Order: sequence, then structure tokens, then C-alpha cells
Amino acid sequence: KPVFVLNGPNLNLLGEREPEVYGHETLDDIRDRLEASAAGKGLTVDFRQSNREGELVDWIQEARTAASGIIINPAGYGHTSIAILDALLAAADIPCIEVHLSNIYKRESFRHRSLVSQAATGVICGLGSLGYDLALEAMATRLKVAP
Ligand code: DQA
Repeated sequence: KPVFVLNGPNLNLLGEREPEVYGHETLDDIRDRLEASAAGKGLTVDFRQSNREGELVDWIQEARTAASGIIINPAGYGHTSIAILDALLAAADIPCIEVHLSNIYKRESFRHRSLVSQAATGVICGLGSLGYDLALEAMATRLKVAP
């Protein structure tokens, strides 16, 4: 089963959006790199982005049976969405790694809390797009131990 890599709102604008915060890479660049590195780890990734909370909830529900793990950058919804937290709690049988490109603790106080973290196996933030690669590496190790 693939690892679902789910990206929340406004991440489709990566590369154009506040590049001083989020970098110059696009989401397509990140997807291409992860797909290639997943292949080298014997994994596949199913990489998706949505600006809609309900669609992210639907995908997390789908992941309960269709994915081996979830890597999620919930973007702004991480700070607000009880619905996404609840969906992830319902998917607790598979590992979930939360990624933020920026260091949310160094920014406005409303970004300091992530609701999603309560359902995450691990959290990576502040390392830019490298966070996605590290999350995939951690997922590969984790799935080897407990597939
Ligand atoms: C983000 C951090 C969030 O606070 C913000 O709303 C985003 C992106 C990040 O990857 O750094 O949209 O999740």
C-alpha cells in the first residue's frame, strides 16, 4: 500500500507564496523528489493537495484501508481543524507523521499549537522541504519494523 502524502490549503502555491518563509521549490518539485526516493526505499507515495478541509478528511478516512501510513502537512488547518484531528485519531492504526516547512514555534502565536500533533506519531517542522524527505525516511524505517 502507498504512503499517502497529504497537503493542505495554499500549498499548491508553494514557490510563489512567501518564498522567504516557504522556499522556492514548488509542490510538484517535492512530489517528484519523494516519488523517486520512495522507489529507492521500496515504497510508493500517493501525493495529494487540497484546499478543502472535507476533502482532506475524506482522504484520511480512505487511508485507513488504502495506505500504509500518512505524511501530512495540514497547513493552516493544523491549527484549527478538530475534524482533521478526529479523522487522524480514527486512522490511528497506521503511522502518521506531521510536517511543516516553517518552524511554527518561531512564528505568530496562533501557529504555536497544532491540533493534528495529538494524533501524530512524530512531527517535523522548520526544515523546509527536507522535512518531507525525513518523514519518508522515518516512515520507511517504521514500516520495516511494523509493516
Ligand atoms: C505550514 C505552517 C502553517 O502555519 C501555515 O498555515 C501553512 C504552512 C508550513 O508548512 O510551514 O500554510 O504548515
